[in-house]
Amino acid sequence: MSFPPMQPAADAGEARAHRYHDGRTSTLMTSAREQPYPEGRLIVSRTDLNGIITHCNEAFVEISGYTRDELIGQPHCILRHPDIPRAVYKDLWDTLQAGRKWHGYVKNLCKDGSHYWVYATAVPNLRAGKVVGYSSVRREPSRRKIEEAQARYKTMLATEEQAP
Ligand SMILES: Cc1cc2nc3c(=O)[nH]c(=O)nc-3n(C[C@H](O)[C@H](O)[C@H](O)COP(=O)(O)O)c2cc1C
Repeated sequence: MSFPPMQPAADAGEARAHRYHDGRTSTLMTSAREQPYPEGRLIVSRTDLNGIITHCNEAFVEISGYTRDELIGQPHCILRHPDIPRAVYKDLWDTLQAGRKWHGYVKNLCKDGSHYWVYATAVPNLRAGKVVGYSSVRREPSRRKIEEAQARYKTMLATEEQAP
């Protein structure tokens, strides 16, 4: 499977190699440009048990820069930003698969190489007592929380890069 191609903006200067959990590799174009969080809106998506996007709201589509058709059916890691340590997503998946609610600060990559920060809450979706997928609702994080997460993630990334 391959993602719809990124369309890097002129200022999306940095090409970063990334290896996804399933072994695929991609060159991600990242820029320093941050998209402002859409005021007063929630950014919502749902996935199946494998993290494939099955639903996303209008705010999610708009900020990502992709069309809805480009997003539905893709793995959620289409938004993966290489500045977020692997341990963050491992914790998300371990928590959800244990049937619990997860929350955390996440930086997501837009189609044009820019990014946006969110405070995300993810939960398992139950039907007749069985987990049938997952949902995530994202809110605007405070600047102080973003800065704290950035500092924490920088240290975590440095450790991950040293790991074999
Ligand atoms: C409900 C739900 C929401 C998710 N939201 C995001 C997200 O906003 N951004 C992101 O990069 N990964 C998100 N993920 C995690 C991805 O599935 C994936 O684990 C992550 O992007 C790391 O991918 P990689 O290990 O292949 O690099 C979400 C997963 C679930 C189940």
